[in-house]
Amino acid sequence: MTGHIAAVDQGTTSSRCLIFDTDTGALVAAAQQEFPQHFPRPGWVEHDPSEIWTSVTDVMRKALAAADLEPTDLDALGITNQRETVVLWDRRTGEPVAPAVVWQDTRSDAIVARLTADGGQDRFRDRCGLPLSTYFSGPKIRWLLDADPELARRAENGEICFGTIDSWLIYRLTGEHLTDVTNASRTMLMNLRTLDWDEELCAAIGVPTAMLPTIRPSSDVYGTARGEFAGLTVAGALGDQHAALFGQGCFDPGDVKNTYGTGSFLLLNTGTDIVASEAGLITTVGYQLGDAAPVYALEGSIAITGALVQWLRDNLGLIKDAAEIETLAGTVDDNGGCYFVPAFSGLYAPHWRADARGVIAGLTRFVNKGHLARAVLEATAWQTREVVEAMRSDANLDIAALRVDGGMTANDLLMQMQADILDTVVIRPAIAETTALGAAYAAGLAVGTWNGVDELRSLWAEDRRWEPRKSRDDDYSQWRKAVERAKGWVD
Ligand code: G3P
Repeated sequence: MTGHIAAVDQGTTSSRCLIFDTDTGALVAAAQQEFPQHFPRPGWVEHDPSEIWTSVTDVMRKALAAADLEPTDLDALGITNQRETVVLWDRRTGEPVAPAVVWQDTRSDAIVARLTADGGQDRFRDRCGLPLSTYFSGPKIRWLLDADPELARRAENGEICFGTIDSWLIYRLTGEHLTDVTNASRTMLMNLRTLDWDEELCAAIGVPTAMLPTIRPSSDVYGTARGEFAGLTVAGALGDQHAALFGQGCFDPGDVKNTYGTGSFLLLNTGTDIVASEAGLITTVGYQLGDAAPVYALEGSIAITGALVQWLRDNLGLIKDAAEIETLAGTVDDNGGCYFVPAFSGLYAPHWRADARGVIAGLTRFVNKGHLARAVLEATAWQTREVVEAMRSDANLDIAALRVDGGMTANDLLMQMQADILDTVVIRPAIAETTALGAAYAAGLAVGTWNGVDELRSLWAEDRRWEPRKSRDDDYSQWRKAVERAKGWVD
């Protein structure tokens, strides 16, 4: 009989549950629910951990009903999630003790500035693979403890649990205080070599080790759900971008994927080698399957890509819905000399410049809204090229193709631009739900649904590919000039 396996994808703006057929990898049922975003002050972004949990149980219930299945009919559940977001809860009651501080939240900037002043932005890179930034979890945890001395005292005493979203969901489902190695690699607290919490990093950032979860492989049996989903085996977890790498079948060194969402995240499989980046990328754990050696990755995180299309729609009103940008951009043949650097909240990879702000460069009276729409789409492709160039310079690997997923891959014009701008073939898979699929794969491998990655390879199929048609190297130097103008805007 055909089996089924589920994945929960707990993202920044919505929670989803997807159920897959284990023979074909095809999607059988899906449910999605948005949940409230809280912005109490400029630069602050919070979620309510209880609202996240409720949204997850709602979508699990709905997806199971749509597939006409009981929790125990599923082989297992895998979890994938927005990364770096911090949840703190009471170890005894299981109740959250603070709002979740979301990855985009910049409130820890003073902590990051203090740590940077004392040894530079890259002082912890060798141990954890990351530059100092408000993006990662460690400084956010410290901020929460600084804001409440009683909470800090209880955290020291082991009365408070920290977890990223995977950890929070696993805890609520099974009662176990665990996290997976990919999520742990985004905290700035895990040592990339030992795959365990690094005492020196924890001490320097000021995070008591008593509050940290146990780190486990991405594919492993974590426990059995209690309560409403009793009997369901929870057996896989990966941060969402790592899950997409896995779901895209990027199992070999040199395989690279780009997920186009609000921002874009490129991950390059570097095999069992830890590649230190000198070109502004992050070194992270790609995935770890049970007792096998971990597979590492280089990541280029881009803060704003799809969000720029939303900005054009919501802030300028130039388009009515996001899909319309393709039509508007199609009214002209080129960008008319116009370049749009969407450094709305600084620049992430490969620049890591918090002082950058957005610019539109190259404006003349010739430029019309079609050119602007084209420059908006190209901004995504140019930023992707910057990251791919950094990957080529950091890793001695042949990057033969870019595998793509996420909402913007429906835009054919953008995908052709991407192939031209990279001078590399761009490939979209038949099953678009790569993030959830990656988590389902990890869970299925842990419980024996599939025997290994070779079996998973046969489930991956190509939907469409875009070959490069014309070189854009000359225009790339214009883009780079525009990026320089974005830097140093904020003192
Ligand atoms: O690092 C942040 C990333 O994991 C967020 O992903 O898809 O929830 O915006 P998403």
